[in-house]
Amino acid sequence: MATRRQNNIAIVTGAAKGIGLAIAERLARDGAQLVIADLDGAALEEAAVKLSARFGQDVGSLAGDLSDQAVAKAVIDLALERFGGIDILVNNAGGGIIKPFVDQTPETLKATIDRNLWTVLWCSWYVAPIMRAQAYGRIVNIGADSVRNGLWDHAAYNAAKGGVHGLTTGMAREFARDGITVNTVAPCAVNTPQMVEITRRDPALAAKFVNVIPVGRPAEMEEVASMVSYLASAEASFVTGQVISVNGGSTML
Ligand SMILES: NC(=O)c1ccc[n+]([C@@H]2O[C@H](COP(=O)([O-])OP(=O)(O)OC[C@H]3O[C@@H](n4cnc5c(N)ncnc54)[C@H](O)[C@@H]3O)[C@@H](O)[C@H]2O)c1
Repeated sequence: MATRRQNNIAIVTGAAKGIGLAIAERLARDGAQLVIADLDGAALEEAAVKLSARFGQDVGSLAGDLSDQAVAKAVIDLALERFGGIDILVNNAGGGIIKPFVDQTPETLKATIDRNLWTVLWCSWYVAPIMRAQAYGRIVNIGADSVRNGLWDHAAYNAAKGGVHGLTTGMAREFARDGITVNTVAPCAVNTPQMVEITRRDPALAAKFVNVIPVGRPAEMEEVASMVSYLASAEASFVTGQVISVNGGSTML
């Protein structure tokens, strides 16, 4: 029986902070060799140093905008050069520009798609042939439960994350016989520094996000990372094409 500690060369995007960093920590704890990437170079460097010190791992890092095709390719190349393969790609980079649809601007609409969809498309497009050649791969995307329930002020973000959910089923079918699984973890509100900031700025809006969660609180970042850990493992070999909500029971509503 396969275990979680096999095939553990992993790329985590958007891993300088927030949920991505929690995922990188969890995979390192699972025994992964890591390459982490993020737009925020200073925070990324700090994260790489901390992960190396804490887990005794050789952590590769690359700073840049992953919606840029060349940057996405450079991350994949770095993992290949450093570790000789890529078993796991976690497409976590993203984030919403949460505001009423009519208040979005051409710039925020484009940034939302770039950040949440193009990052995933480019990294997945470059990694898929590599995983196919090695007849093994785990792609785990971070989507959003708001695609399912709408949620206030999330329309543009849902358009981008809905693309990620669609890519998941499409790629899962295409690569199903290649030893590659493709899944998406779709969280509800998560207790990130960003969520803390929204709560400070607009407590009424934050309360709306949390009121739809039967468990009565946002997810902790580690609760999202735990699902990623399972889907990224060798033992999750028969789970593919799924969008799995980590949402404190919101699907029941
Ligand atoms: N926080 C939540 O409540 C929540 C809920 C559902 C889904 N998500 C998703 O989870 C993921 C992580 O969110 P978070 O709350 O930790 O956000 P965050 O802003 O704390 O972290 C996201 C990271 O991605 C990086 N990033 C963004 N665009 C990038 C790009 N183009 N290239 C490279 N790096 C880029 C950022 O620099 C940042 O470090 C995102 O995809 C987000 O949409 C978050």
